Amino acid sequence: MIIQQGAVTASARIGDLGTVLGVSAPGIAAQARAGQFVHVRPGTSFEPLLRRPYSFNRIRRQEGEIELIVRPLGPGGEWIASRRPGDLLDLLGPLGTAFVIHRSARNLLLVAGGTGIAPMRVLAEQEASRRNVTLLMGGRSVAYLWPSDRLPPSVEYVTTTEDGSFGIGGRVTEALPELLRWADQLCACGPWPMLAAIGRMREEAERAPAAPGRAALLEAQIAVEQHMGCAMGVCRACVVVTSQGNARVCREGPVFPLGDVAFAEGEPATVGLVS
Ligand SMILES: Cc1cc2nc3c(=O)[nH]c(=O)nc-3n(C[C@H](O)[C@H](O)[C@H](O)COP(=O)(O)OP(=O)(O)OC[C@H]3O[C@@H](n4cnc5c(N)ncnc54)[C@H](O)[C@@H]3O)c2cc1C
Ligand code: FES
Repeated sequence: MIIQQGAVTASARIGDLGTVLGVSAPGIAAQARAGQFVHVRPGTSFEPLLRRPYSFNRIRRQEGEIELIVRPLGPGGEWIASRRPGDLLDLLGPLGTAFVIHRSARNLLLVAGGTGIAPMRVLAEQEASRRNVTLLMGGRSVAYLWPSDRLPPSVEYVTTTEDGSFGIGGRVTEALPELLRWADQLCACGPWPMLAAIGRMREEAERAPAAPGRAALLEAQIAVEQHMGCAMGVCRACVVVTSQGNARVCREGPVFPLGDVAFAEGEPATVGLVS
């Protein structure tokens, strides 16, 4: 984990989802893995004081670049999303745990809601040449979907919108059962209600007999988001309840086995966009 002044190389608005920032940060790019995040200083003064966490949306090791997708939400998010090429960003990272893709997985299913697309895009780019990858993404409307031209062409991209403006009408959880039958590994990131709904599907699968996709659901990995202070494991601001007790999202997470997270204990933070 290092502190690095990253130079913004590109900035592009992605519909209503947020702003993608390309940042030159070779030291961080060299170590970063899908699911991990950087803690970004949201200004040049002491207001706002605390850094804000953002997942890697792209890791370009050879070019020494990372990309982040930033919702212009709240004082920190607004300042970070408004950076332009040439501006510097003070970054601390990479932090947290990463997704682990099994070598034996042939059919990898990725599920994203809102800015939960960030680590799913990293996985799609990392795994597209190694196995079959399907990305299922949900948004309120077409304006909240990730653009298909920013995905590897071999990735099968399935989308849902709540208003039916694009793809399948409804939520990702309605399209998931069908795709799950094909999958032998599942990874997801998105708003807490979306992850909780997948958690309920997992509980039902635990009680059900063996069926295609059941193992992928039982062993699914998810990345969760929570308010953070230090992101160094010290302040305990980021705790969520798991089957092993309280866990710090910045240290034991943000990637957890789906079956470990105690969704019934309540929503830790409202993140992403409700899909
Ligand atoms: C591991 C991790 C990865 C994240 N990745 C991304 C990402 O890729 N893109 C992105 O846009 N956002 C991401 N977030 C959320 C992002 O950090 C917050 O939206 C940001 O800190 C908001 O700060 P603010 O000062 O702009 O807003 P505030 O004024 O502090 O809050 C604005 C809104 O964001 C919520 N919020 C604040 N902090 C967090 C937090 N840490 N987690 C969740 N919700 C929060 C508040 O409840 C409020 O609704 C991530 C959070 C974590 C923990
Ligand atoms: S943010 Fe301080 S312990 Fe996780």
